[in-house]
Amino acid sequence: MTLAIIGGTGLTRLDGLEITRREVVRTPFGEPSGPVIHGVLQGREVMFLARHGYAHTIPPHQINYRANIWAMRHLGVRRVIAVAAVGGLADEMEPGRLVFPDQIIDYTYGRRHTFFEQDLTDVVHIDFTYPYEQTLRDALISAADAAGLDAVPWGTYGATQGPRLETAAEVRRLARDGCHVVGMTGMPEAALAREAGLAYATCAAVANWAAGIGGRTVTMEEIDANLVKGMERVRSLLAKAVPQ
Ligand code: HPA
Repeated sequence: MTLAIIGGTGLTRLDGLEITRREVVRTPFGEPSGPVIHGVLQGREVMFLARHGYAHTIPPHQINYRANIWAMRHLGVRRVIAVAAVGGLADEMEPGRLVFPDQIIDYTYGRRHTFFEQDLTDVVHIDFTYPYEQTLRDALISAADAAGLDAVPWGTYGATQGPRLETAAEVRRLARDGCHVVGMTGMPEAALAREAGLAYATCAAVANWAAGIGGRTVTMEEIDANLVKGMERVRSLLAKAVPQ
């Protein structure tokens, strides 16, 4: 089953991927973030797409999530590993660590978030009780164990609108709501993947303590430094075991 990796901040290219070709895909929903890269990773065929564009220029609220997911599905992708940078709220979610969340709360607004709004013969409501696909999550968790990465195999992902970071009060609210990590791209990507019938799981890399935790503000230098470590871990996770 064809696997795709959607790379987030810090992962606009995938080391170790032998690129075979780049494919521009036209979709009914407009342009994806860039051409889809076809390649071979550890002897296995994968596709790769940089969510924010290959030059990292598309902010979270302007990503064409529908075009990205439609393009994957069109190219025969059936499973998607979504790599994403997040801020940590819970004690376990230390900067540098990898997290495989199991739940989502969506705080985004004004994003095109469904494929089911035009030319319908009936209204469609997908089941989204468990937003991430468990078999793919299990594969990621086992791969992280095998690679000795000390990842956190649970957590609720709060998806915020961005591109600004949160206020301290917003982070306190996220924590009261039960969020353990916060990021800006988890939705509507996960829901669109479900609507498209793709098995989807997130590998989050903690880039910083969320705003106000421990009395701190957030700096881009801190985020960038921790992401170097986090993305090295993502690469060793993917290299160790691109799940087949
Ligand atoms: N908040 C939202 N998104 C993020 C953060 C954060 O603190 N860090 C990395 N992505």
